[in-house]
Amino acid sequence: MLNASDPWMEKARQYGQEQLFQFWDRLSAGEQDNLLAQIATIDFEQMHRLFHKSTDEVDWHSLAEKAEPPQAIRLSDAAPPFTAEAAMECGEQAIRAGKVAMILVAGGQGTRLGFDQPKGTFRIGPVSNRSLFAMHADSIRGTSRRYGVSIPMYVMTSPATDLATREYFEEHRNLGLGNDELHVFCQGTMPAVDATTGAILMESTSSLALSPDGHGGIVAALHQQKVLESARQRGIEHFFYAQVDNPLVRACDPLLIGYHLLAQSQMTTQVVSKRFATEKVGNVVAIHGRSHIIEYSDLPEAIANQAHSDGSLKLWAGNIAIHVLDLNFLESAATQNNGLPFHRALKSVPFVDAAGSLVKPSSPNAIKFERFVFDLLPLADRTIVVEGDAKEVFAPVKNADGAATDTPTHCRLALIAQHKRWLEKAGVSVSDLAKVEINPYWALDANEVQQKIQKPAEILVDTYFA
Ligand code: UD1
Repeated sequence: MLNASDPWMEKARQYGQEQLFQFWDRLSAGEQDNLLAQIATIDFEQMHRLFHKSTDEVDWHSLAEKAEPPQAIRLSDAAPPFTAEAAMECGEQAIRAGKVAMILVAGGQGTRLGFDQPKGTFRIGPVSNRSLFAMHADSIRGTSRRYGVSIPMYVMTSPATDLATREYFEEHRNLGLGNDELHVFCQGTMPAVDATTGAILMESTSSLALSPDGHGGIVAALHQQKVLESARQRGIEHFFYAQVDNPLVRACDPLLIGYHLLAQSQMTTQVVSKRFATEKVGNVVAIHGRSHIIEYSDLPEAIANQAHSDGSLKLWAGNIAIHVLDLNFLESAATQNNGLPFHRALKSVPFVDAAGSLVKPSSPNAIKFERFVFDLLPLADRTIVVEGDAKEVFAPVKNADGAATDTPTHCRLALIAQHKRWLEKAGVSVSDLAKVEINPYWALDANEVQQKIQKPAEILVDTYFA
């Protein structure tokens, strides 16, 4: 039983957070244990600093003023520093040697999508109706088979998605991945605070309002849960990182990995050319010779709109959240730095009031703190940026159907269009009325489709190649 002199109560009082214990005497022993375990994870000093916006806060506006376009290997480069052939060969060699693993971040829930399950379980296959997780798993399996190697996939969940994700993989027999190829690990959390007072909010009388610490939480999670250690023991040196919401991702793309290796980069970023100035993607920029990503919400419109005389955007490089990261770099980022900066987001967070009743606010009342993985970029001494063709690499599922962009319908159309292009290149004519879908385990790219299709053909009805 705690008393007023208990060190945690004392600490909470010292930082003006004594409300955390306001229901203490009403709680059962089990509830008290639960609450205390959560409180013990709070860094009160850090929460105080974050709320009072001192050193951790980055001034994105003034950073944006100094932003230049990044040095990048562009699709239009006539004389790139490395040829695509050399990069491909180098990437394939690393994969074959078992040095590459995939990281899939799948911590979010499909809130914007209006889907209350882990986003990875959302069915997106235009003909097959397969889930996002299944598409990524098939892409990994296709790559493993092509290079004769077992490639592990590390899936990061959040407390909200962890159990359902594990159950999903179990029910679907790991989607064809071996037990030693699928690793699920859970990211950490941060408390949400009242936006006016900084008081840590409680979601019930015996638990805090905790939310995932952002995909940047992966750095600490990989280290603390010894994922890096076990990957190293397995011989992994590089991670191919992608988001679960983009089924166009080619798992462990050898070309991108090859550029990463040839440039001796510690963190490589694939980008696409932004379609318009205020597109909702992060902006990959260079500031004083270092790479940074400035989120669309942090980039002032006037700066986003800057253009060259031919109308092309100055800050053209859109982040599609595909990176290659060196294991050594991740390990040093986890152990040698104070951690990545926190970004603040004003959100509506339900909480219990002083009477112990649950309040569901109708407008934003709280600040959530999140870390972003791309804030690793300025910490890296060597980075490169590689442009990809948006129609081949980027069709994220973000919003519910009806929205202007990034809906399931947009994504399915992008998948069908890509597979139609591949088939047509192989001499197959596809009727405009037919939907086509290719399972990446059947063919990973246009060349593989060409090898499989022996003679000209015509497709008139919906067809799934698997
Ligand atoms: C993100 C990028 C943006 C990029 C876009 C491309 C950020 C802040 N912005 O935007 O620069 O152009 O993707 O699609 O990332 N996730 C976790 N844990 C978390 C939060 C998110 O695992 O705590 C995962 C989600 O499952 C999702 C991904 O990270 O797969 C992206 O998160 P989301 O919040 O949807 O970022 P966007 O705003 O879409």
